Amino acid sequence: MAHPLIAPSILAADILNLEAEVTAITHAGADWIHVDVMDGHYVPNLSFGPELVRTLKQKTTLPLDIHLMIQPAAPYIEAFAKAGASVITVHPDSDIHIHRTLKEIRRHGIKAGLALNPGVSLDVLDYLLPEIDLILVMTVNPGFGGQRFISEMLPKIKAVQEKIKTAPHPILIEVDGGVTPEIVPNLHQLNVDVLVAGSAIFAKGKNNYKNTIRQLRGEL
Ligand code: DX5
Ligand code: ZN
Repeated sequence: MAHPLIAPSILAADILNLEAEVTAITHAGADWIHVDVMDGHYVPNLSFGPELVRTLKQKTTLPLDIHLMIQPAAPYIEAFAKAGASVITVHPDSDIHIHRTLKEIRRHGIKAGLALNPGVSLDVLDYLLPEIDLILVMTVNPGFGGQRFISEMLPKIKAVQEKIKTAPHPILIEVDGGVTPEIVPNLHQLNVDVLVAGSAIFAKGKNNYKNTIRQLRGEL
């Protein structure tokens, strides 16, 4: 079993002390920082914009993993790219011409991700695989942190593994939503590449970040 990368979602962090939170997760061994961008339209919540990403970029060397839950997404790709994103993930129903949006992400030299909501079928991948570097499997319905992992998504992750075998290049699989130390043994079996976790890390308090991250990675 290869250990997955761990991407704490700062949606669950103490926002007024974000710099300290970023330092703490960095020391605790985080691999990426997951930034949930919500527009109150594609999802029923509002969160961060490119300015936060730009500020974060000045404070960390960890890759910034930007999850866009906004509709449309295309007009904002350039702003997030210039702000310092390493990965930008969009949902297929964010833009009418999602193929063009994925190409636009890559044009900036950034990894392009496609996110699949729990109700979205894998068929959408058929003609998009060549344009994708990462598939983010949503294991909750997007919009909020702290929700329960939808276990019916485990066979879906397996099906995504099968599907990407036909891709012309390696594609990372990232899992997002309700990821906890209790659920991760199932995910380790599936050889997931990146695990996002918000409340499981931040709700435990600074002194426990390292332990939680190691548990999520399967080291403990
Ligand atoms: C949900 C977001 C997730 C969320 C994860 O819309 O995409 O990244 O922050 O939070 P937890 O780990 O608490 O489910
Ligand atoms: Zn997310």
